[in-house]
Amino acid sequence: MGQENPFVYGEIVTAGAFADREAERERLARDLAEGQKVFLISPRRYGKSSLVRDVLRGLSRQKILTVEVTVAASSSYVGFLEAYARALVTADTPIGRLRRWTAELLQAVRPELRFDSPSPGGPSAGGGVTLAFPAVRTARDTARLAAEVFALPGRIAAARRQRLAIALDEFQAVVSFDGGNVEHALRAAVQDQRAVGYVFAGSEPSLMERMLEPRRPFYKAGPVMRLEKIDEELFAHFIEARFAASGLRPEPGLGAAIVELAGNVPYDVQRLAHETWDDVRVAGRRSAGLDDLHGTLTRLLGEHHTAFEESWQRLTLAQRAVLRALVLEDGRELMSGDVRTRHRLPGASSVQSALAALVRQDVVMKAESRYTVSDSLYREWVARKTF
Ligand SMILES: Nc1ncnc2c1ncn2[C@@H]1O[C@H](COP(=O)(O)OP(=O)(O)O)[C@@H](O)[C@H]1O
Ligand SMILES: [Mg+2]
Repeated sequence: MGQENPFVYGEIVTAGAFADREAERERLARDLAEGQKVFLISPRRYGKSSLVRDVLRGLSRQKILTVEVTVAASSSYVGFLEAYARALVTADTPIGRLRRWTAELLQAVRPELRFDSPSPGGPSAGGGVTLAFPAVRTARDTARLAAEVFALPGRIAAARRQRLAIALDEFQAVVSFDGGNVEHALRAAVQDQRAVGYVFAGSEPSLMERMLEPRRPFYKAGPVMRLEKIDEELFAHFIEARFAASGLRPEPGLGAAIVELAGNVPYDVQRLAHETWDDVRVAGRRSAGLDDLHGTLTRLLGEHHTAFEESWQRLTLAQRAVLRALVLEDGRELMSGDVRTRHRLPGASSVQSALAALVRQDVVMKAESRYTVSDSLYREWVARKTF
């Protein structure tokens, strides 16, 4: 008893909860340490943020200054610039030096620094500090501010005589700020920063790929890493090993069944493993098998029923029909006459536009030329609860 659940989902995983990714870790670490500008692309929940966090930790042990910002967390361009500038100036900076350091680095744009926390001597300089640029009003002010902020990493590297590694996560969100301009300004700034490695991680593969096309600023800016799923056998083995190490004996085939049911999406795999582990533990048993897995699946489907029903009802009839066919046909040959007749689907072009709409809503994604439902639980729900 007292053993903690060894499976983690919904947050960044590191250390023991982290499976595989050896080659990716090594390559990303090397590229960042060399000051490359790396693009990291995969659908959501494949493990980009976890990989990046793990690599940055390793780099900071090598005395490289690391900075991590989630672009999509900002609701405006200026908001992003504030968050980014704050992350840069507070990185590993003693609180006592922060005011002078910020003023020195950002002279041209008159930053306003506030310490919100009641105890400014707190453990980390980043906590409770806000940085704002109240003087920025017009689009021209914003462009000037962006140029200053994007140049900061280079200045910090020079001032501290230290290399930097910067992660801009959910990077595709820059497109919604001010598209082209952000890309231009950022590209122009980073290309001269030899001592600064960047990883631009993005969750909407089609948006990210478009950013790398000819005539876009980031064309050939640096290496592109496309994060794939984790090898199925390896992942299944990892799951079983962690069951065993935590005192629950996995019955043969449990790992493979979890990976398969989860569509081998890392988040979904960990979710099923975590929830099954909990159920078995609560039942006071010492081994976990396929019946347990299916019991857990039934419970989860029940818990998500309302949300899934709402999602289903938001779809048009054509989208529902296409989604059902996609689930039942395993995402293949959806445009063929055969499949369309069998599932009473509309004409090929209507199927095409329904698919596009489903992808846009992130209900469905296209991976390796096959369409799959993004959430494997939703896929099971559609298979069982709709007609
Ligand atoms: N290497 C890994 N090994 C095991 N589980 C992982 C791994 N990478 C990701 N996961 C699982 O997937 C979830 C989502 O990972 P995350 O890094 O947030 O993905 P992304 O940033 O691509 O959306 C994590 O909470 C974890 O459960
Ligand atoms: Mg992420």
